[in-house]
Amino acid sequence: MAYENKMLYNTVDRTSVEIMVRTFYEVLIKDAIVGPFFIKALGDDFKNDKWYEHFRTLEKFWLMMMNGEPGYTGDPFGPHAFFRLTPETFDCWLQRFKEHVAQYFIPEIADKFYKKSEILAEQFMQRLEIGKYAEEEE
Ligand code: HEM
Repeated sequence: MAYENKMLYNTVDRTSVEIMVRTFYEVLIKDAIVGPFFIKALGDDFKNDKWYEHFRTLEKFWLMMMNGEPGYTGDPFGPHAFFRLTPETFDCWLQRFKEHVAQYFIPEIADKFYKKSEILAEQFMQRLEIGKYAEEEE
């Protein structure tokens, strides 16, 4: 494993989040299921303006989710409403994210990242009325 000897971050701050976010999309963009959504929306060149914006947005988003820091003012649900997302797509995203945060943060923090993303993924699916999550709704 390439990450075996790597120090795990024990704080959630701008630096650790920036590195985690950027490297996460390096993994995601290569994923056969999730990758094409990002390439379609943002292109395949991380140096372009759309990706630059996306990285900044996601950094602010995670600092808000994890530390309650103000800064993210967007609507996380909005963009996803236009994709044809399925429970499998979400499962794939979540699995990748789980593996990824564990390679960057100590277990306690990695778990918190994962739990937050899992809750949000469920909310997205309820609002998008897709798959098993929608069926659980009254
Ligand atoms: C099925 C898996 C997912 C796919 C394929 C996906 C795809 C995308 C794409 C392509 C964008 C960029 C939209 C644009 O700027 O045009 C985006 C934005 C975003 N995604 Fe996801 N996403 C997924 C799951 C999630 C989950 C589980 C979370 C939360 C933990 C999340 C959080 C966000 C946020 C915060 C943004 C930025 C929204 C804004 O502009 O304010 N996504 N997503």
